Amino acid sequence: MPHTLLAFGLGTGTRSAAGAWLEVLFPQPLADPSPVLAEIIHAWAGTNEVIEPSREALLALAGRLDAAGEATQAGIARNIAQDPAHAVVVALPQDLPLRSVPEAYLKLQLLSHRLRRPHEQNLDGLFAVLPNVAWTSEGAIAVAELPSRVLTARCAGRTLTVHAVDKFPRMVDYVVPSGVRIADGSRVRLGAWLGEGTTVMHEGFVNFNAGTEGPGMIEGRISAGVVVGAGSDLGGGCSTMGTLSGGNKTRISVGKQCLIGANAGIGISLGDRCTVEAGLYVTAGARVSLLDETGTLQRVVPARELSGGSDLLFRRNSQSGAIECLSNRAAIALNAALHAND
Ligand SMILES: CC(C)(COP(=O)(O)OP(=O)(O)OC[C@H]1O[C@@H](n2cnc3c(N)ncnc32)[C@H](O)[C@@H]1OP(=O)(O)O)[C@@H](O)C(=O)NCCC(=O)NCCS
Repeated sequence: MPHTLLAFGLGTGTRSAAGAWLEVLFPQPLADPSPVLAEIIHAWAGTNEVIEPSREALLALAGRLDAAGEATQAGIARNIAQDPAHAVVVALPQDLPLRSVPEAYLKLQLLSHRLRRPHEQNLDGLFAVLPNVAWTSEGAIAVAELPSRVLTARCAGRTLTVHAVDKFPRMVDYVVPSGVRIADGSRVRLGAWLGEGTTVMHEGFVNFNAGTEGPGMIEGRISAGVVVGAGSDLGGGCSTMGTLSGGNKTRISVGKQCLIGANAGIGISLGDRCTVEAGLYVTAGARVSLLDETGTLQRVVPARELSGGSDLLFRRNSQSGAIECLSNRAAIALNAALHAND
């Protein structure tokens, strides 16, 4: 039986003083590595999925990878062999719930490298597995060790700055996908999936397992699990409802060429070429008046019945306060100059 792998990565990470993994960088993770590579890994690691190899073992692996023409992976193996205490290799034959920090970081990096799309991988157990980490000017530090590290740095004449305390690091510290602009790196978490031509402005935010097909202008929040189609524009401060907290169980998506206006929000999915008026939050249960071409009321439906529909314009009638839905005549054309990312 040939051996197959779903995911593979040679990594180098940070451990707590007690030796627990805090984070792992996989410079060139692989999804569905070639059968040749899968055989090499199996011969080297057996059925182990998370390996903490010795220097010698890594150099032996590098030799086998070189012999098979896998020069890039061989080079990474040699690099991480220089610091074996921080080296880790992950080889996953199946897509099981997460059990370790290295596995979690591999799957998050596959997303941000665009090697797996949102929802393609089993991320069950992610929050239980990921430790809360202080992300500092001196790298990842276990939160419990922070006071002593701050003091040590001060006494050595350095100032240790804490950028964040979170389970997820900034994506850009691990991977910068081609053709993207990110105005504030702290607004995009590792595990975000940003397509070519995506711009995330300062008010924009992209969570893990969520993102954009690209091109697109993101000035609002893309919650965990939400995927935004090509050519769509999320206006300043707008919101896409997530499923992690607050009771919403429905995973939301936004189709192509949609505009969610500034400070607007959606609790339903949008199809293609939809517009939501600035400031209007369309929640799933909200009653929506459907208007025909002449502006005459046809019927009133809960917004969830319109979920996924295309060519819709949602607005709040400025006189009656009712949420209205009309056909959207103006498709959103992205401004080419604004969206150039080279
Ligand atoms: C909803 C929206 C798209 C409508 O824009 P528009 O299609 O250009 O519409 P107009 O303002 O030209 O109005 C068209 C008609 O609809 C009416 N209308 C528009 N909004 C209305 C409202 N909230 N209630 C009642 N009538 C409304 C207008 O009075 C006008 O009527 P008329 O044809 O009888 O004169 C726009 O108001 C909007 O919210 N755009 C979002 C922009 C944005 O936030 N971009 C992101 C920046 S970061």
